[in-house]
Amino acid sequence: MNIEDYLAEKKKLVDEALRKYFSDNNPFFEVMYYSIDRGKRIRPILAIASYEANGGTKLDEILSVACGLELIHTYSLIHDDLPAMDNDDYRRGKESAHKKFGEALAVLSGDGLFAYAFELFTESETNLKQRFRVIKEVSEAVGPKGVVYGQVLDIQKHEEANPKTLRQIHLNKTAKFISLSIKVGAIMASAPDEIIKVLEKGGIYLGILFQYTDDILDVTGKKEKLGKTPRKDIFQEKLTAPRVYGLSGAKFRAQRYAALAKNTFHRLGPNFELFNEITDYVLNRTF
Ligand code: IPE
Ligand code: IPE
Ligand code: MG
Ligand code: MG
Ligand code: MG
Repeated sequence: MNIEDYLAEKKKLVDEALRKYFSDNNPFFEVMYYSIDRGKRIRPILAIASYEANGGTKLDEILSVACGLELIHTYSLIHDDLPAMDNDDYRRGKESAHKKFGEALAVLSGDGLFAYAFELFTESETNLKQRFRVIKEVSEAVGPKGVVYGQVLDIQKHEEANPKTLRQIHLNKTAKFISLSIKVGAIMASAPDEIIKVLEKGGIYLGILFQYTDDILDVTGKKEKLGKTPRKDIFQEKLTAPRVYGLSGAKFRAQRYAALAKNTFHRLGPNFELFNEITDYVLNRTF
């Protein structure tokens, strides 16, 4: 199966599960679902891919955890778009949450998704030990030692285009979450710690690559394809890879991070070959 088909197949599974988690509840679930709809689902797909590569066979088990990751990611996008942060009115090919429902409901959608995610992490009573570890790892990666801290650095005014600060932003706001997604799949499949460590390291390279391509697409991407507003980073003088290294420098370094990720995943043998293909997909993505 080629990588596009693989990603489409897994995305379908995630989309179906997400629909299930957002039906038959109070009307606010529809408000939250508006923002959930239409993502690429990279994080949940990475969790599933890692679960399966590590021999996991209970799809329902990993799906609830994978969907929890997508809820947290979507909360981070809703808050990222708020006027107080990136002030972006367009997301996933439609009006962003605050534009559609007003700021108060957008903030609350984020709050609701963040908390609902943890309900999904405890969805099943099997694998209690793994689920406890998942919750610990998620809290670390997406909270004030990870995504939230990255966002704090991101919104600061950076007069200097400092490569070290750029790395801190990329590592915290994006790479730790991408790496976490791979890690939780491995934890849910009871993978040995040696394998988890290698996956985590490859995941950090893949995550930095993911933010490089996001920064590059802000310069080169088209609004319709991206589903979000291009050239925002330039306009808002964000500290991005193209600002620090120039567009061609950023593209060159993206290739280096892809190579680092692939060399790392390669150490795990043929069961993990898929992660090399996902890495190439992230390197060459157009949205
Ligand atoms: C965008 O994430 C925010 C970043 C961390 C770069 P995605 O590119 O995964 O956005 P969706 O989920 O597909 O909308
Ligand atoms: C956002 O980074 C990362 C998050 C934690 C949400 P960006 O601000 O670059 O994401 P986009 O470009 O708006 O999707
Ligand atoms: Mg931002
Ligand atoms: Mg943004
Ligand atoms: Mg961006």
